[in-house]
Amino acid sequence: MSRNPQENWSTRIGVIFAVTGSAVGLGNFLRFPGLAAKYDGGTFMIPYFIALLLLGLPLAWAEWSMGRYGGVRGFHSSPGIFRLLWKNRAAPYLGVLGLLVPVVIYMYYVFIESWCLGYAWYYLTGAMELGRDPEAYGQFFASFTGLEENASLFANPLGGPLIFLVICIAVNFLLINRGLTRGIELFCLGAMPLLALCAVLVLIRVLTLGTPDPARPELNVISGLGQMWNLQTADKSVWQSLANGKMWMEAAGQIFFSLSVGFGVIITYASYLRRDDDIALSATTAAAGNQFFEVSLGGMITIPAAFIFLGVAGVAGGTFALGFNTLPLVFESMPLGRWVGFLWFFLLFLAAITSSLSMLQPAIAFLQEGLGLSRARATALLCGVGTVGTLFVVWFSKSLVALDTFDFWIGTFCIFLLASVQTFIFGWVMGPRLGLEELDRGAGFRVPRIFAFIIKYVSPLYLLVIFVAWAWQNMGDSVQSFREDAVVRWSILFLLGVAALFLWSIHLAVRRWQAGEAKS
Ligand code: ALA
Repeated sequence: MSRNPQENWSTRIGVIFAVTGSAVGLGNFLRFPGLAAKYDGGTFMIPYFIALLLLGLPLAWAEWSMGRYGGVRGFHSSPGIFRLLWKNRAAPYLGVLGLLVPVVIYMYYVFIESWCLGYAWYYLTGAMELGRDPEAYGQFFASFTGLEENASLFANPLGGPLIFLVICIAVNFLLINRGLTRGIELFCLGAMPLLALCAVLVLIRVLTLGTPDPARPELNVISGLGQMWNLQTADKSVWQSLANGKMWMEAAGQIFFSLSVGFGVIITYASYLRRDDDIALSATTAAAGNQFFEVSLGGMITIPAAFIFLGVAGVAGGTFALGFNTLPLVFESMPLGRWVGFLWFFLLFLAAITSSLSMLQPAIAFLQEGLGLSRARATALLCGVGTVGTLFVVWFSKSLVALDTFDFWIGTFCIFLLASVQTFIFGWVMGPRLGLEELDRGAGFRVPRIFAFIIKYVSPLYLLVIFVAWAWQNMGDSVQSFREDAVVRWSILFLLGVAALFLWSIHLAVRRWQAGEAKS
């Protein structure tokens, strides 16, 4: 049992905003539009919504249910909750994924968060007015992120872009140190409405652009929306597009990343609910909120904006290129562009920080309940470990190799693994009967009974097929980059070191829990 006093969310809206804040992030505004553009717009939405119904939503319900079950019994982190649910010696050690995934994703996520803050600041001060030469934006991004040379950002540590990183790290840890209600909940209660307001203003600006260049009438808002929603593309039928296995995998990966499911985050957040608090409706509201931000705001801003100024070529180009090179060029071309640019990057920053905060809480909870540390000590320790990881990513910034390696192994591979472990523990160990009982207690609505069948059979099978196909398609390239690139090898070694550190801490925690149980 934890020696720290039991913490709880103070309001229902607070927990919904906190979970939605965790879910709504860079994934919604950068990753999703990049993927939708890459995979023929509307066709991508088919595997995307199927993954939402068969994986995302069922797993979200499962995480909320396991989380509240564990929290009521004094556990708030995956190692503790898995051990409680599954009387197997391996169970707490499998919980390492619920610490590794959020902490490592935080390590690189906060770096991207600092780019958003930096760009917002440069828009505000007018420094982003770089004219209409696309190359200027590419060069700016490259020097801002250290893309061209390792360690280049350390040449002028506090006079350059790193100052924004220092600010982001400080804000994250100051807020997390304030605790659940005074830190995370209060911040999300203010940040989420502000984020929605900024996004709606940018959306209105984009949707009222009409046909900015009368000489090219085909580049208008309606065709821009068609880029996202039309099923048929000029050169492929719907069925040809749907036959692309990689699209199904990336759609499922996007659902996990975007909902923060399979992250170890929701299980921790839900553990701070009270015994009879609603989880069914809150979980569904948070997931629906995330989808609104992703599809209605993220997708419908970025894709039409890029299309109407730059055509099909503007929409293509990948996540970071779309967000940090193409959109600034688009803002430059539109009336009031400087202010739209500021609002856009400021909203990205808000979205990112409510997510990165959530990535820290699982490890804080574990350090408190597993090792008996006070919140301040847990925060200091995690700040140390997290910052070392972030500095590693920033040091090896050339072509963002370290960031990509972390994202591949932890932000994709380990998310699939953790989602599978959660499905197994919920569907086969806890069992859907107990799971549904938990979901029904205090529920604002009754989860459809078919959920029991889906989580027990359909989700694991779907996960297995996607996981095997994903591994099949990616492992060859990964082995090759491991052989050829020293930074990839260092990055993997670093990740193994972090995993070993967490496993050792779990070992200490298990001994401590056993000693406590023997006494009582
Ligand atoms: N769910 C968070 C995002 O979409 C991590 O960025």
